[in-house]
Amino acid sequence: KETVQIGLLGYGTVGTGIIKILQTNAHNIAQKVGCPLAIKKVLVRNPGKTRNTSFNVPLTTSIDEILNDPDIDIVVEVMGGESPAKDYILRALEAGKHVVTANKDIIAKYGKQLFEAAEEKQVDLLFEASVGGGIPIIRPLKQCLAANRIREVMGIVNGTTNYMLTKMTQERLDFETVLAEAQAKGYAEADPTADIGGWDAARKIAILASIAFNSRITLDDVQVEGIENISPDDIEYARELGYAVKLLAIAKESESGIDVRVHPTLLPHHHPLASVNDVFNAIYVRGDAVGETMFYGRGAGEMPTASAAVADIIDAARDIRHHVSSRILCTCFNQKNLSSAQH
Ligand code: NDP
Ligand code: HSE
Repeated sequence: KETVQIGLLGYGTVGTGIIKILQTNAHNIAQKVGCPLAIKKVLVRNPGKTRNTSFNVPLTTSIDEILNDPDIDIVVEVMGGESPAKDYILRALEAGKHVVTANKDIIAKYGKQLFEAAEEKQVDLLFEASVGGGIPIIRPLKQCLAANRIREVMGIVNGTTNYMLTKMTQERLDFETVLAEAQAKGYAEADPTADIGGWDAARKIAILASIAFNSRITLDDVQVEGIENISPDDIEYARELGYAVKLLAIAKESESGIDVRVHPTLLPHHHPLASVNDVFNAIYVRGDAVGETMFYGRGAGEMPTASAAVADIIDAARDIRHHVSSRILCTCFNQKNLSSAQH
């Protein structure tokens, strides 16, 4: 293959970052893959919108132009939401294209169906950017820690709420102001109630728990409480008592199965997660062989998230070059080995 061609679905926060990295690091990436990568077309909703014009990429509003193009090898979905994104991913897989996505809503809900379609066509479905923004966590959990029986996965997995809680603590800003700041920085979901209500974190811990425990965990298995009722006064009282308020996502073995939860938690100031601030995420994983490990970095935003997505694109491109596929097949989404705990 002379050039690996990409169809990009979405030119928002993450899509812009992907275009920037692919163009800025083009030479370096081509060396790693063994051939150049090119963005053939970008699907947008509104082609008239003002965008970063220094990037010369052809826009389209027709998904068929991408899915029916035999030259496009990889479809990268960074549109967000369930519909039509899930349908587009499924159609791309059925058309034999490798797919990269940052969409945790879809992986958490439709992982089983999508991985079956990927297996059927022997193509990659990669989703490193769906959890933890730029932090490597899907591959480490799926591959590097595969020898372990995982006992616990726990951490801060939503950048928006961690940014908000940090600003409410450090600058005593009110809820609406810090939410608007997180939105302006591109951290929040299109519907930020998914962030503040804990649902974004719940989808992410469902994905991590599915991989860690090799058993399908769905959103219905997660007990969820968000930060919508937390005020700067609550945070100040907690601080005076020596605690930081953090939205934690937790999945651990319990006597009745796997206990999976998202809720605000009081952490003593000396706890390692108490000093994870701003948009940073941190994910603690405990395995029977490795012991304790911790993954830390920027959990949202244009360039960190694009870093993870482009790494997936590079992996898919290498697979295309070497005529292999499905190196990271996620059978965990297909099976219910362990029941989650009753709530
Ligand atoms: P944005 O809202 O910034 O961008 C969405 C893009 O998709 C826009 O370019 C929009 O087009 C396009 N789009 C949306 N719906 C359609 C449609 N029906 N048809 C055609 N184009 C459409 O989203 P983000 O970049 O922030 O997020 C994208 C995905 O990445 C989401 O799944 C999100 O959860 C995930 N993610 C985001 C992170 C972040 O920090 N932002 C971090 C990790 C994951 P137009 O520009 O014309 O409006
Ligand atoms: N809205 C998400 C967050 C984006 O704030 O963590 C990253 O998945």
